Amino acid sequence: MTGEAVSALQAIIYSRGRLQLLDQRLLPFQTVYLDVPDVKAAWTQIRDMVVRGAPAIGCTGALAMAVELHANKGAGKDFSSVEETVQFINATLDYLVTSRPTAVNLADAANKLRAVTASASAAPAATPLSVCGAVIEAAEAFLADDIAANKAMGAYGADALLAAAKARGRGVGGRLRVLTHCNTGSLATAGFGTALGVIRALHERGLLEHAFCTETRPYNQGARLTAFELAHDGLPATLICDSAAAALMGTGQVDAVVVGADRVVANGDTANKIGTQSLSIAAAHYGVPFFIAAPTTTLDPALPSGEHIVIEQRTHEELTHFRGQRVAAEGVGVWNPSFDVAPGALIEGIITEKGMVPKQDGAFQVRSFMAQLGL
Ligand code: MRU
Repeated sequence: MTGEAVSALQAIIYSRGRLQLLDQRLLPFQTVYLDVPDVKAAWTQIRDMVVRGAPAIGCTGALAMAVELHANKGAGKDFSSVEETVQFINATLDYLVTSRPTAVNLADAANKLRAVTASASAAPAATPLSVCGAVIEAAEAFLADDIAANKAMGAYGADALLAAAKARGRGVGGRLRVLTHCNTGSLATAGFGTALGVIRALHERGLLEHAFCTETRPYNQGARLTAFELAHDGLPATLICDSAAAALMGTGQVDAVVVGADRVVANGDTANKIGTQSLSIAAAHYGVPFFIAAPTTTLDPALPSGEHIVIEQRTHEELTHFRGQRVAAEGVGVWNPSFDVAPGALIEGIITEKGMVPKQDGAFQVRSFMAQLGL
């Protein structure tokens, strides 16, 4: 990608042997790209939120693996055997997935690279160079695949939101007012976005009346990143504080809610940024259709239901401090889960790049959907 014009919204820049991440901690005020020289740096930068958003984390992990092999292991020349190569790759992938626990995309990327490693190392003429080459090529496909998935999801999602709003007599002259949460756009993915991609797709069709984005406390992904993306693209948009969302729905100004996901399990229960569960409950109360937009890399059919999802806890300082300055009274305890789970029962539809996850008797069929797709 180096050499092409870099958009202000490009989270990841990659060319063989070099990975750079837009430091999202500094947005919307500064555009600074940090080098990711190895997987150790990638681990720290993922944990420290230089890059965030489930698909972007998955792509970053895969590309960090590619950089590690190409730049630091001589594309395989530094390994003395195929066994040593395989051991290194698998141990490195195990390490990478420990950076953040809730989003499944990084684990999914690691599993895909493990499978490539296994098949390349089983080839009759396998060498360290051939195994590393296969892994590097597979990792390099992640960015383009993610953008393609997001564009497809945008189209399916726009259709789904329009149909749901029409069925409920919602909308303004056929155009929709859509509420979203956290940041699920270009910055959270390889480009275009998941839930924000659906909003972009509606806008491209001339069918977006208005976008509402929540502030997304405590880390402010909505105010800092989604508002930035909406303003950058010139979409009609309004920022609200998280606690205003139910009141806004109550005024009748929201035709649909669409959010992203960090993990969608077998029954459709969906982990996403803290506050998503409240939005799903408020939407159900007001009869507003509530959608999830997530690529199939975010589906985790291995877990039966939401209570099995590991929820990441983040630092107390996200609540007690603002830009390094303490704002909470000394001595108070803090509970700061980064994600919560919207129950599948409150979700109108789960949009993927392969279409909508089917429902049977009101229950999402994530396992059979994945099986039918051969995933
Ligand atoms: O903590 P973050 O910023 O990584 O959380 C991001 C979210 O919760 C997003 O909604 C989710 O990853 C989907 S991104 C397309």
